[in-house]
This record gives sequence, structure tokens and C-alpha cells, in this order.
Amino acid sequence: MKTLYIHPAMTRGHIRKTIQGHFSEHLGRCIYGGLYVGENSDIPNVNGMRTDVVNALRAVHIPVLRWPGGCFADEYHWMDGIGPKAGRKKMVNTHWGGVTEDNSFGTHEFMELCSQLGCAPYVNGNVGSGSVREMSEWVEYMTFEGVSPMTELRKANGHEAAWDVPFFGVGNENWGCGGNMTPEYYANEYRRYQTYVRQYRPDRKIYRIACGASDENYAWTRTLMENAGRYMDGLSLHYYTVPHTWSAKGQALGFTREDYDETLSKAVFMDRLIRIHGAIMDQYDPDRRVGLVVDEWGTWYDVEPGTNPGFLYQQNSMRDAMVAALTLNVFNQHCERVHMANLAQLVNVLQSMILTEGPRMLLTPTYYVFKLFMDHQENELLLSEVQGNDSASAVPEVQASASIDQAGTVHITIAHPGLDQSEPLAIDLSGYRVREVRGSILHGAMDAHNTFDCPDAVHDKNFSDWTATERGLTVTLPPVSVVHLAVTLDD
Ligand code: AHR
Repeated sequence: MKTLYIHPAMTRGHIRKTIQGHFSEHLGRCIYGGLYVGENSDIPNVNGMRTDVVNALRAVHIPVLRWPGGCFADEYHWMDGIGPKAGRKKMVNTHWGGVTEDNSFGTHEFMELCSQLGCAPYVNGNVGSGSVREMSEWVEYMTFEGVSPMTELRKANGHEAAWDVPFFGVGNENWGCGGNMTPEYYANEYRRYQTYVRQYRPDRKIYRIACGASDENYAWTRTLMENAGRYMDGLSLHYYTVPHTWSAKGQALGFTREDYDETLSKAVFMDRLIRIHGAIMDQYDPDRRVGLVVDEWGTWYDVEPGTNPGFLYQQNSMRDAMVAALTLNVFNQHCERVHMANLAQLVNVLQSMILTEGPRMLLTPTYYVFKLFMDHQENELLLSEVQGNDSASAVPEVQASASIDQAGTVHITIAHPGLDQSEPLAIDLSGYRVREVRGSILHGAMDAHNTFDCPDAVHDKNFSDWTATERGLTVTLPPVSVVHLAVTLDD
């Protein structure tokens, strides 16, 4: 039997809640239809935000939301999205389907959404086609409380108080859609732009995020850290799990066992990426002041047949749930370096938490994984290790992470991707005795998923398949399962 060793007295770093963050871009039906339907919609809403979606996201304690892109960020001009809606400038969304963007969802609407969700805003500025002045004035508009032209404009647009913007991104994918820059050129641009991302309120510092690498572009990380490391709080990393190739990614449903294995092996590659990008960062920042911000991650398949190829709409199955569980456990294990991560994307785009169709909404298997993991937020990571996995296998048969909350409860999340057999697992708590266990599980066939006609086919359930032992407990994990255990220990 495999054993998960956990030491409840040995902490290994703080798990910031922001590693369970999300991403919303002006792309397909993420914003329009997914999050925002407008005040005059028949779909129940508060100030235009869908009530069903907001309630579902509040229930999993969504900690932070990135906006407005993505590639869209570097062609977004924020002043087009403020003021009376009838007068807002329309633009073409060149990256995503060439559709008309009417700018009815802008800064005020995003801040309203974050306020309803109870999450922190992460605003991504425009370096690719914007100016230093434009970015600087946006920060002034959002965060300055004194007398200034931008403050007056904000007030004239109906918002008296400054907003809190705890996270600000200086460009997105500037090696590609954000301007096709070289790392040396972007590092200089980053230094210049970030200078004018002013810290107007010393008590509410803005955490400045530089555009980082994609995948294995380690040279980008090295150049950024060397030339601009001291001017940033975070450096981003983008990595998508694409089962096959970018030109033929594979479908979200109707996949084979081989596709499943291939997808999961690509998901756990995140661990290697963080180790190597992190090791490079360590050379320039041994105290780990600068965070790695994985602000785009998740599965990316070919779009659902019959849908707009520019909208990136895909279904979501237990395979995606397993990708999410494996990845969130990896983030926990690297919490000393990973300060934030943002799944792409929140609604109706790529690996979504939620899908909508007109007034209907469903929660995806990925949503339930975030529900199982949410008790890790703001806990201390515990030293843990699974022993007994087949070392030749690219994907661990059992993978886990553990943390301890302020009340002393130990939270364990376990992923068991195996397709055929239940897996008995011993959990060794280093001599601590178990008083009480509360468990939840998500499991099903590898392609199990929810549809608008059958929205509850996959959901979390209580898990009671555990037994207390001398050293902790044993559990039995069904095939394709994710388990959360909240374990109260004897004093
Ligand atoms: O999430 C979709 C796109 O993927 C983002 O706009 C871009 O940053 C990345 O290439």
C-alpha cells in the first residue's frame, strides 16, 4: 500500500489564497453573457452581473480576478470603457473573433464585479499598443484619493472613493501578442512603465507584475530577472495543457485513455516548469521576494464543434478536474515561490469553472475541485510526501498536498488519476492521533461531465471511506478521484 507521510508540526511556507485565482478576458462569452448581462437583462442580475454566477463563485471563495486580458489587454484603451455607456467607443476585438466590443463592461463594471464576488482585482495594463501616460492615468483614476484630473473624472463618472488595486500587470505576453518584443527590449519597457505605476497609498501597495515567460522560455525569465528583477513584485508564467499539438489539440470530450494519460502528463509538467523558472529566479532573488505568478494555466482543446473558433468555448470533464487537482497540489507544494495563479478562464472560455447558455448555468467538474481545495487558502503548507508510487510513471498514481489552518485542522487534498482500480492509501500523521475527519470527494468516469440538460451528473459528495489507525488513517480512493480531508488531531 502507498503511504502519504505528513508532518503536522513541520510547515513549509504560506499558501496565499491568490494561488486559487481566476482570469476573465474580453474573449468569447466570458464577460458578455457569462459574467455580465447588463442591468436590463431578463437574467437575474445585480447591476448587470449575473446573480447565479456571482453566487456560485462566492461559494468557493474566489480570491482574485485578472482582467481585461490576455492578449486583449494590450489593445485595450481604458478610457473607452468609462462614462455613459451610450457614448462609449466601439472597437474591434481583433484577437478573438473580430467581434465588436462595445465597451459596456469597463473599469467601473469590473470593480463592481469584484466587489460582488468579494475578491481582489488584478488589472492588466497595456504596454503593446498603449502609452506610459495611459497606464499611469489608469492607475491614478483607480487608486488616487487626492485632487487630480483623473480623480475628478472618476468622481464625475459616479465613483467618489478610490478603489483598491492590489495587483497590476505591466503588459501581457509581450514576447508575442503583446508587441513581439525581445526580452531585453521588454525589460527596459517594463522598467519605464512600472515607474509610473504610482503607489499613491503606502498602506495599500500595488503588487507590480512583469510579463514573464511561456512554457520553457527560460532565457526570458533570466533576462527579466537580471535586467528588471528589482523593479517587480511578481513575474508571470503562462502554461497551457494541450493534449496534442497547437494545430490539432484534441477535443474536450470523446477522448481515449491514451489522450487522458498524455493530458495529465502535460499537466504535471507544471512542477518541472516551476522548479526550473524558480531556480533561475533564485539566482537573482535568493530571498524569494519576487513571486512567480502563473496567471494563465489550464487545458486548451479544439473548440466545441459548431462554435466560433475565436471564442475558445470547450466542455469540461473529469479529465479537466484531474488536471486542476494535480496542478493545485503542485502550486501548494511551491507556495514559497508561487504567489498567485489564475485559471484560464472563469466562464465559457477554455478550462472554465462555469458554463452558461442564455439563462442557464452549470458548474463544471473543475469548479468542484476548487471547492475541495478552498480550505487550503491562507494556511501553512505541511511537509508531506507520497511513498510507493511507480517512479517510471510520468503521472503519479497518488499525488497530494497538506496544510494546517489557524485552528490546527489539517487539510489534505489527494488526486488519484488511475482509471481502473481503487487505491488504498495509508496516511501517516507522524504520531499525531486523529480525533475527527470530515471528507469530500469528486469522482467519475474520465469523461464524465455536466450538460445543461443534466447539470448535476458530476458534483462533490461526502467521503467517509476512511478508518483511523495507530499512525493516522487509511482511505480508499476510487478511480479518477479527488479527495479533501479535514482532519482534527488530538491535543
Ligand atoms: O487565454 C487565452 C489567451 O492565451 C490569452 O489571451 C493570451 O494571453 C494567451 O495566449
